[in-house]
Amino acid sequence: MASATKIEVKDVTKTYQTGDVLFQALAGVSFSIAEGEFVAIMGPSGSGKSTLMHILGCLDTPSTGTYALDGRSVGALSDDELADIRREKIGFVFQSFNLLPRTTVMRNVMLPLVYAGVPADERATRAVIALKASGFDESHFEHKSNQLSGGQIQRVAIARALVNDPTMILADEPTGNLDTKTGEIVLGTFQKLNREHGRTVILITHEADVARHAERIIHVKDGLIQDDSRSHTRREITHV
Ligand SMILES: Nc1ncnc2c1ncn2[C@@H]1O[C@H](COP(=O)(O)OP(=O)(O)O)[C@@H](O)[C@H]1O
Ligand SMILES: [Mg+2]
Repeated sequence: MASATKIEVKDVTKTYQTGDVLFQALAGVSFSIAEGEFVAIMGPSGSGKSTLMHILGCLDTPSTGTYALDGRSVGALSDDELADIRREKIGFVFQSFNLLPRTTVMRNVMLPLVYAGVPADERATRAVIALKASGFDESHFEHKSNQLSGGQIQRVAIARALVNDPTMILADEPTGNLDTKTGEIVLGTFQKLNREHGRTVILITHEADVARHAERIIHVKDGLIQDDSRSHTRREITHV
């Protein structure tokens, strides 16, 4: 059975204006991603990856072209409607993930649920489920954020992205600040979430070694797609 289309991007451009200067960060990109795919978007610094991620994550809208998420065009939605979509459907993981300082792991993970208006007792239950899914060690749930290693922090970041039970995870350079071994554990966690939970994962990176953990790699350069193909040297992490 063919999977439903999760993402449909058609002729999307994005032009930034700084003073009188216009800069086209996306010069017309089109692609679609099916539900349950694990896709890397790869390109050098300045190629437009984060710009594209902001559009896919409903944090920003295209200058021209269309973007549909789950069959719904998002270009005409209000800021409030975009915020609803983000809260309901998307989990974000960023490179420089800022946990609340001197605050426990549990409280950090429950925070998005406070904003979403989830009752207190349910918040804790859902935080525990998300932390377990991210592979975070249970004995550290009550540790404070300043008592954690880089790898543990990134697992908390993943748990925080998962706590709303999103169907799609968007990760922008999630291993950028990690050593190779810790980075592999984080990438293995994304593979597991994709494989076992059917979540759509979009991984943004400038590194080929990171991108090869995805099933499919979309190469971008100068705001254009240069190549879109299956990862022929896919690296699977089975023990996380
Ligand atoms: N808010 C902005 N205003 C002006 N220029 C921007 C803005 N955001 C990004 N750019 C420019 O757009 C280009 C692409 O940026 P970005 O999408 O962040 O690339 P990447 O994530 O691939 O490094 C860069 O040249 C950057 O300087
Ligand atoms: Mg970037």
